Amino acid sequence: MLGVCYYPEHWNEDRWETDARRMRELGISFVRIGEFAWSRLEPSRGNYDFAWLDRAMDVLTKAGLKIVLGTPTATPPKWLIDEYPDILPYDEQGRPRGFGSRRHYTFSSETWWRESARIVEAVAERYGEHPGLVGWQTDNEYGCHDTTLSWGPEDLKAFRRWLRLRYQSADQLNEAWGSVFWSMEVGSFDEVALPNLTVTESNPATRLDFWRFHSDQIAAYDKMQCEIIRKHSPDRWITHNFMGFVLDFDHFQVADNLDLASWDSYPIGFVEKFPFSEAERNRWAETSHPDIAPFHHDLYRAVGRGRFWVMEQQPGPVNWAPWNPIPKPGMVRLWTWEALAHGAEVVSYFRWRQAPFAQEQMHAGLNLPGLDELSPGGREAEQVAKEFAIVGTLPEVQKAKVAIVFDYQSYWTTKIQPQGKDFHYEELTFRWYESLRRLGMDIDFVRPGASLDGYALVVLPCATEISVDLERQLRRFDGVLLIGPRTGSRTRNFSIPDNLPPGPLADLTGHRVLQVSTLRPGLAQSVTGEAAGAAIRWREDIEASGDVLARFGDGMPAFTRNGKIHYLACWPDEALLTATMAQVLDAAGLAKFEVPDHVRLRRRGNLVFAFNYGEDDWQVPAGMRIVLGESNLRPYEVTVWQA
Ligand code: GAL
Repeated sequence: MLGVCYYPEHWNEDRWETDARRMRELGISFVRIGEFAWSRLEPSRGNYDFAWLDRAMDVLTKAGLKIVLGTPTATPPKWLIDEYPDILPYDEQGRPRGFGSRRHYTFSSETWWRESARIVEAVAERYGEHPGLVGWQTDNEYGCHDTTLSWGPEDLKAFRRWLRLRYQSADQLNEAWGSVFWSMEVGSFDEVALPNLTVTESNPATRLDFWRFHSDQIAAYDKMQCEIIRKHSPDRWITHNFMGFVLDFDHFQVADNLDLASWDSYPIGFVEKFPFSEAERNRWAETSHPDIAPFHHDLYRAVGRGRFWVMEQQPGPVNWAPWNPIPKPGMVRLWTWEALAHGAEVVSYFRWRQAPFAQEQMHAGLNLPGLDELSPGGREAEQVAKEFAIVGTLPEVQKAKVAIVFDYQSYWTTKIQPQGKDFHYEELTFRWYESLRRLGMDIDFVRPGASLDGYALVVLPCATEISVDLERQLRRFDGVLLIGPRTGSRTRNFSIPDNLPPGPLADLTGHRVLQVSTLRPGLAQSVTGEAAGAAIRWREDIEASGDVLARFGDGMPAFTRNGKIHYLACWPDEALLTATMAQVLDAAGLAKFEVPDHVRLRRRGNLVFAFNYGEDDWQVPAGMRIVLGESNLRPYEVTVWQA
């Protein structure tokens, strides 16, 4: 169940055998290679050099390692960029982003598609049936370094093509976008401009389409790679390594082409990326927040339709966050077990050995810089490998009782039109997840429009547009539903629904939103009733025909119920959120099991895993049959028992 990312091209060939042997000795079974090696695979146009990779793959295979091979498209080589500068992406200021790091391409370039297809074909043809090869990774981390959206001439051409297909005529485009406003109408698709560099805010409908267009392009680009790989390597699986909190494209859509999902877990780095308060950042600086990695494990289990890997696991301090602390001793082991508890098939560390050169020289590996000597993180990986013998085969992951509907487009919509500066879709969703996990719940994520059958409670923190499929599933669902603010507040064309929000859900929820208010940091409005606390950041004035469970200070409804459907008309503070979750869990007949803020539980089959992210011990409930760890769960420790 362990893997590692390895770069044979970074080390002298005479070290490969020792590396491979030491990987096996440590307990590693899988090795991912190749994803940045284009300049070595094709040093100049058409001059392929596969001999070194042949030898590397043979050495790894002989040692008993199973290989995951990456297509090298995240790093187009210099000669290619010099030959075709139209491959380069552009930033929002309209400047080309240059060669010298990675991901320097736009998905809109036709040249890029042709060149990608060529190198993918060459690699897939060469290695598709290699006996050591078990699977493929397409590219590397789509969207990393803000590379989903690009604003150059190639993007404009491709955007116009995409719009033509979607709208057929300029009139329909003008109508959909409401372009009569500020005289933005165009006479033909050739007049459409990119939504950047405008004097003030550009049309939100245009921006949403621009986002959808890029998201569609990534899915199509990935599909192109998958089709080539499948032609030459029909018996191997394909994945892509997604990222944490990069929500710029619809991961569900990309994964439609994949056999399984994978993601790159840097729990401490993400503490800086997520909009936490400074106090929370300090609190979780050396462990990460206890829901950061789990949130993604659960999300990627959904993206991968039940199957996911951690393709890159943080093994120690990283280099790319504003601050990069050493994880507390025990955390690398804890994160590994936690990924497995959430259903990861394999946890693969990034990387085998710290590279003493180039951009990531400050990024830990399982081995010290340049040496054949385990780092502290490497020793923790070794410990996990030994513990597999104690825990044995992990049971099947079962479906949770609680589901959260996760909607990438709502992230785009609320980014385009925050209305209040601190309305962050990912934060709202994360807080709802955190609150449910504090009450002891296991959680599944669900793609909007996918079946909700079998769940006792479904939570929809915010879905701005209600698609036909989502509406159908919500109408069919007979469990308890909790719906959050801004849901149903926009049509497909980014306008306010004729019947006011929540648009198509009005009869289900029994409410109508008349106006909304956003609250500056520090301002709060109290909420009292069956769930009490305060509204912060966002609050709606609604009319409600069902039961009003809680009201704002001015008497207007804050939390309503229509049959089994609950609506929360604000961004809740922690107290209101906990009370709301407690209400709906009770309504759904689900028993709560409250844990302190530094402890989390996760069930996998008949096993219960407990993880301690804090400085205080926690007692496992009495009388449990412990499989791993102790009943007194010490800081940064893991305990596993049988349910
Ligand atoms: C990931 C990336 C790796 C490496 C790593 C460092 O985003 O896929 O290639 O850069 O971060 O943490």
